[in-house]
Amino acid sequence: MSSILEHPPLEIGDITAKLPIIQGGMGVGISLHRLAAAVANEGGIGIIATPNIGMLEPDFLSNYQEANVRALKEEIQRARKLTRGIIGVNIMVALTTFGSLVKTVVEAGADIIFSGAGLPLLLPGFLQKDSKTKLAPIVSSGRAARIIAKKWTQNYNYPPDAVVVEGPLAGGHLGFKEEDIDNPEFILEKLVPEVIRELRPFTKKDGKPIPVIAAGGIYTGEDIRRFLQLGAAGVQMATRFVTTHECDANIRFKEAYIRARKSDIIIIQSPVGMPGKAIRNSFLDEVSRGKRKPFTCPYHCLKTCELEKSPFCISFALINAQKGNLDRGFTFCGANAYRAEKIISVHELMETLKEEYQEASSKEKT
Ligand SMILES: Cc1cc2nc3c(=O)[nH]c(=O)nc-3n(C[C@H](O)[C@H](O)[C@H](O)COP(=O)(O)O)c2cc1C
Repeated sequence: MSSILEHPPLEIGDITAKLPIIQGGMGVGISLHRLAAAVANEGGIGIIATPNIGMLEPDFLSNYQEANVRALKEEIQRARKLTRGIIGVNIMVALTTFGSLVKTVVEAGADIIFSGAGLPLLLPGFLQKDSKTKLAPIVSSGRAARIIAKKWTQNYNYPPDAVVVEGPLAGGHLGFKEEDIDNPEFILEKLVPEVIRELRPFTKKDGKPIPVIAAGGIYTGEDIRRFLQLGAAGVQMATRFVTTHECDANIRFKEAYIRARKSDIIIIQSPVGMPGKAIRNSFLDEVSRGKRKPFTCPYHCLKTCELEKSPFCISFALINAQKGNLDRGFTFCGANAYRAEKIISVHELMETLKEEYQEASSKEKT
């Protein structure tokens, strides 16, 4: 198939994306309605990220749950006003607001929920009889994919509508031990076939296989083609969407990607209890020198945060970064963030990806 448009569309239950490209959810506030709608308008799947989504609400500190729920409803409505395309929501299992955010999304009728940073074993329990929202866990191994598919089938008669497998080149929190991040055993090219194999015994009610989505380090149209050829039904990309005009972060966040060199991309230990990939800056340097950032915890945002041991408050740091205050925060990123050269529109990016895909096909033929 020489054009990406000739590839079968990405079908997740009864939703069909013309382009097999999902824009990965990016918290805090990096992918909200503007980016998600722009991606959906291009025929991909746009994802709103939920961590601290209520950060601009006046009662964010005093009424944390409700402020987040209210802001999420508004973000879904705003995205719907901008697009008739596919809009999903990313909800990390580790969030203390997980249950109320999932309920909100199901009630709002968003098309799909992606959920990782823990095993979302209880997710199908939130669906009502007539719910339209599809459910897709995010995993980092075949084993996790199998456990989730088995539990969902046994307990809810509901195998996942799709599964995202995220490799070690991904951005944000990583589902690997720090020492495994560079281990060639865990590269995405190995994980995708492994997850496909583990999910083979499970099918959707119509007998179709569960679509597997590849994520982590996919940056060009050539990369997309490679993973589709490996059997992925689609790809999830995040880092490349940061340097778009429509990305919901402050311009200084995007410029940090453009300035970054390969050597600036480092692994940090996040208070979430997982390693994370980020661009080194003065804030992270201070953290690594052991200079603790004094903080109190106004949010209680994460089930897994060990307040006593954390050198900084992840919410505070990421909210600051979203607003462009990078001396009081830092930017999460994927391994390819240093490749960004300029800020372009989502439309230009999608056209570039299509061209790169086509060029890779032509190269293969010659
Ligand atoms: C800035 C940033 C924030 C992210 N935040 C989240 C998040 O809130 N929840 C989540 O499940 N994944 C998050 N991710 C992971 C992405 O959704 C995506 O799966 C991954 O980054 C894909 O790899 P790529 O960035 O190399 O394309 C984040 C990634 C980045 C770059």
